[in-house]
Amino acid sequence: MQITPETTADRSIGAILIDAGKLSVKNAEQIIRLQKTESLRFGEAGVKLGLLTDSDIQYALAKQYDYPYLAKGNGAVSDELIAAYNPFSRRVESLRAMRSQLMLRRFTGEASHKALAIVSPGRGEGRSFVAANLAIVFSQLGERTLLIDADLRNSRQHQLFRLEGRSGLSTVLAGRSDAGAVQRVPNFVDLSVLSAGPVPPNPQELLGRQAFGGLLRDLDSEYDVILIDTPSTSDFADAHLVSASAGAAAVVVRKHFTRIEHVRRQTEVMNRSGVKVVGTVLNEF
Ligand SMILES: Nc1ncnc2c1ncn2[C@@H]1O[C@H](COP(=O)(O)OP(=O)(O)O)[C@@H](O)[C@H]1O
Ligand SMILES: [Mg+2]
Repeated sequence: MQITPETTADRSIGAILIDAGKLSVKNAEQIIRLQKTESLRFGEAGVKLGLLTDSDIQYALAKQYDYPYLAKGNGAVSDELIAAYNPFSRRVESLRAMRSQLMLRRFTGEASHKALAIVSPGRGEGRSFVAANLAIVFSQLGERTLLIDADLRNSRQHQLFRLEGRSGLSTVLAGRSDAGAVQRVPNFVDLSVLSAGPVPPNPQELLGRQAFGGLLRDLDSEYDVILIDTPSTSDFADAHLVSASAGAAAVVVRKHFTRIEHVRRQTEVMNRSGVKVVGTVLNEF
């Protein structure tokens, strides 16, 4: 019995699900019949017939596009990493849109640097969330991606990615470990994380040294994209120092939360130190 749906994409979705044992050939044919009579897409017809679930379709899409992603409840990384668990959700779609914008700028030569600091004025605005999920979507495209947690005061990336936090940026900058402290994220081949490491007594001083810029230069050839999570700019100067080394920053603005005058002040400081503010992410949650 051969399955011959309308389009290549649809054929592979059916075939992928059959291969994975999630769909029988008989049910696939039933889906194709409905698909033809009602001109639906394969997935839509399958859901309408109750033969497929949204997560089956997501699974097939992920396979089709060769996306590294994790099944729900896998627990390998935090549930906050929506790009790892729900790569085709609307939220992640907007992160991919942001990725496209950033890549476009890079290819048009507007941003020569690979490094991008993710900044915002206040706490709890979603910098860590955006940095982590954006790093995942970059890596899913096969870009060699490094996420650096430069929030040495409230570090979160090692928890989000369930990595060990004994060594990291703080120990590298203090000269107590080398770039070997960069950890690969299991399941995500093109993604590496340099976690923050133990809280140092002097975060600002560490980040302000030549060492951070030097580290970025050392890592430059190994990665296509380097994203940097930072502390709030209203509380500390750390993020400004980091952004100055990176050369570029993207601003996270949390809807109905982030104070616009704080964003303005932040942008002024960035401009004064020659940091290119490449875009703003409106984070609504
Ligand atoms: N777009 C979003 N959707 C859902 N939850 C979000 C979103 N952005 C942030 N959060 C959640 O809000 C909390 C604070 O975000 P976080 O990234 O840690 O803030 P920041 O790093 O700016 O202090 C976290 O629990 C995070 O998962
Ligand atoms: Mg944070």
